[in-house]
Amino acid sequence: MRTIDVGVVGTGWCGGIRAVTCASSPLVGDLHLAEVRPERLAEVAAETKAATATADYREFLDAVDAVIISATPETTHYPMARDCLAAGKHVLLEKPLALTLDEADELIALADAGGLKLAIGYSQRFNPKQAYVRRCVADGTLGRPVSAMVSRHITRNLGNKIGGRIKLSPAAMEATHDIDFLLWCLRPSRPVTVYAQSVCGVMSEAHGVPDCTWITITMDSGVVVVVGAGWILPPGYPNFSTTTIEFVGSEAALLIDDSHRDVVLNRMDGGVVFPMSTMPGERVDHVYAGPMADETTHFLEAVAGDTPVLVPAWQAREVMEVYQAADASAESGEPVRLTSPE
Ligand SMILES: NC(=O)c1ccc[n+]([C@@H]2O[C@H](COP(=O)([O-])OP(=O)(O)OC[C@H]3O[C@@H](n4cnc5c(N)ncnc54)[C@H](O)[C@@H]3O)[C@@H](O)[C@H]2O)c1
Repeated sequence: MRTIDVGVVGTGWCGGIRAVTCASSPLVGDLHLAEVRPERLAEVAAETKAATATADYREFLDAVDAVIISATPETTHYPMARDCLAAGKHVLLEKPLALTLDEADELIALADAGGLKLAIGYSQRFNPKQAYVRRCVADGTLGRPVSAMVSRHITRNLGNKIGGRIKLSPAAMEATHDIDFLLWCLRPSRPVTVYAQSVCGVMSEAHGVPDCTWITITMDSGVVVVVGAGWILPPGYPNFSTTTIEFVGSEAALLIDDSHRDVVLNRMDGGVVFPMSTMPGERVDHVYAGPMADETTHFLEAVAGDTPVLVPAWQAREVMEVYQAADASAESGEPVRLTSPE
């Protein structure tokens, strides 16, 4: 397989993981970094031995085959992806794909016109537990799908980090992963009705967003799925995330504990915390525990070998329709019926 030159834009938490994964991949020739915080840019550039490091990603666009966009706030995603696609570069873009469906459509059209890969960072598809559920649905182990539930809670530290930079709901920023996962499992069945309720309290005072949203989605097959997402857990670890999954079919049921309570660190100073409990995962010396490194490598392989990406942008657009409907439903108190595709 040929090597490719790659740029990473935004080398914060996720971008740092992406950059380090690229640096250790034999598929990557030169690595280029863009980050507006000079100290963080210098830190990641030193760790990855980047070919160039700049504050402005447009400086390296001519030099790369592909760009990974991991910048915040989320208002940056659409203009950055548009610039990269317009320059003829393949893109891996962290969710959300864009802030509006019109922006999403423009990005998808640009990628299609240029024959470019536009993959969206729904890392949970690279979590082996989620992949196992998908396989059990696809190969018929569960029989006919009947219902599914994903309950996800993240620590208040993360809720505050997100709420401090942008006013997006837990449906848009958190449930989005689990909506994507469930639509992926149930495809080609499509969502038709969305009903959601939110609770406002801690986060509404601080950031003007709900504490949690619970979403019921009815598929055109009659299957009902429920996604609950909250972001006010007391800090148990800086980036703690806990998930429970139930997937029930006519012939079998899968009950999955992805709560990360299997590794508990109990300290004299600070009590119990849950290390190895982040959504993207984390490097533990010579191994990586979590899905984001594999997701990054998958994108590099797709570009270098010209193979399809697992999360194409049109699927992320469907997810966006559902979480926007969930926000609208929570606001109005009424179910929202999604328009069927033409
Ligand atoms: N897939 C997952 O599991 C997962 C987990 C967390 C976050 N995310 C998504 O990833 C994205 C990044 O999240 P994060 O927690 O890494 O954020 P972060 O704030 O830690 O990092 C973002 C970085 O972008 C930099 N930046 C801002 N403007 C820039 C610009 N113009 N050019 C270059 N760099 C710029 C910031 O300085 C910051 O270092 C978010 O949009 C979020 O939705 C995904």
